[in-house]
Amino acid sequence: MRLMLVVGARPQIIKSAPIIREAQKHNEIELQLIHTGQHYDFEMSRIFFHEMTLPEPSANLGVGSGTHAWQTGNMMIQLEKAMVKNRPDLVMVPGDTNSTLAGALVAVKLHVPVAHVEAGARSYDMRMPEEINRRLTDHSSSLLFAPTKNCAKNLLSEGFTNKAVKVPGDPMYDSLLQHIATASKTGILKKLGLKSEEYVALTLHRPENVDDSRILGRIMKAIISLKLRTVFPVHPRTRQHLERTGLLAKIQESPKIKLVDPLGYHEMLQLTKHSRMVFTDSGGLQKEAFWLHTPCITLRERTEWIETTESHANVLVGSSPKKISKAAAKAMGTPEIKEKLSKIKNPFGDGHASQRIISEISKSR
Ligand code: UD1
Repeated sequence: MRLMLVVGARPQIIKSAPIIREAQKHNEIELQLIHTGQHYDFEMSRIFFHEMTLPEPSANLGVGSGTHAWQTGNMMIQLEKAMVKNRPDLVMVPGDTNSTLAGALVAVKLHVPVAHVEAGARSYDMRMPEEINRRLTDHSSSLLFAPTKNCAKNLLSEGFTNKAVKVPGDPMYDSLLQHIATASKTGILKKLGLKSEEYVALTLHRPENVDDSRILGRIMKAIISLKLRTVFPVHPRTRQHLERTGLLAKIQESPKIKLVDPLGYHEMLQLTKHSRMVFTDSGGLQKEAFWLHTPCITLRERTEWIETTESHANVLVGSSPKKISKAAAKAMGTPEIKEKLSKIKNPFGDGHASQRIISEISKSR
């Protein structure tokens, strides 16, 4: 069976890695790995292929950055050509990016069945482009791989049948388990002059946090006023906004914050594991912090990963400086917090999601 896997953005590569490895074990599966080119900087894409020893994509469509319609539209035009040429039996799309949506829409219109990995996640916030992408992708799919029971419940309540919805677990968790030993050998703490538990990590890239200079400035001020030093791997989008607004120079003057280029997967896992707490607006990092028992403070009003907030491992603070410092003080003042978090049951599966996904796909032919 010809299985086309569409990736394009950083988190999709991480989610796909264990699935690719599993597919490679199956002789009956011909894997066609297509990269849309949504992410193109070395640190946003290629580094993950190196670190995770993934095969080169059979095509990179080179679409790049643009407005949502431009980016998604161009991906669709290129993907249609790739699908017509390669005639996949099934198209698999992981996650919730514009590349995910483009892959799903093109395939379903060509009457090629679509399998969505990470189906059923819902933030119920339609201002998030990812929420739109998730919903439309799910509703274009005939095989829906939900990472948790809660995601499956969301899908059943939207009218999907038990036959279409599977709960294999989360391949992102598989990935973490497969790479955590290597992560411990990166030496990133030493490289950045950090000591375990004596710093906090920050990532920020959502338009609602970074595109408006007042909000971005407010968040940065609150982070700089924390007791501990902050390490901040800066997403290219965020760097552009910090530069444009003159905030970058100001932040660089502060000894409380260390700005670095986007990190690779192993370095980021190690940084997260040893951080006293993590501040983020990313979806994936909320889960990684949860799995690594690091308290997470999410700079968003809503999350699709309610599994992490229900257990209080993750708290939503939006961009409010008051809430940021309150949540930080609470996490900081509880030294045994990581021990407590390690006892929470993991609802994201047992680290074998990819095997179940590939075996389900093999059966679907
Ligand atoms: C995308 C995903 C988001 C995911 C994130 C992970 C969508 C709608 N969003 O957001 O869900 O969490 O990836 O990083 O698909 N840029 C570069 N180099 C790159 C890539 C981007 O400089 O390699 C800059 C460009 O200025 C670009 C901006 O970053 O305009 C935003 O990139 P884009 O792909 O539109 O979305 P992300 O913010 O990365």
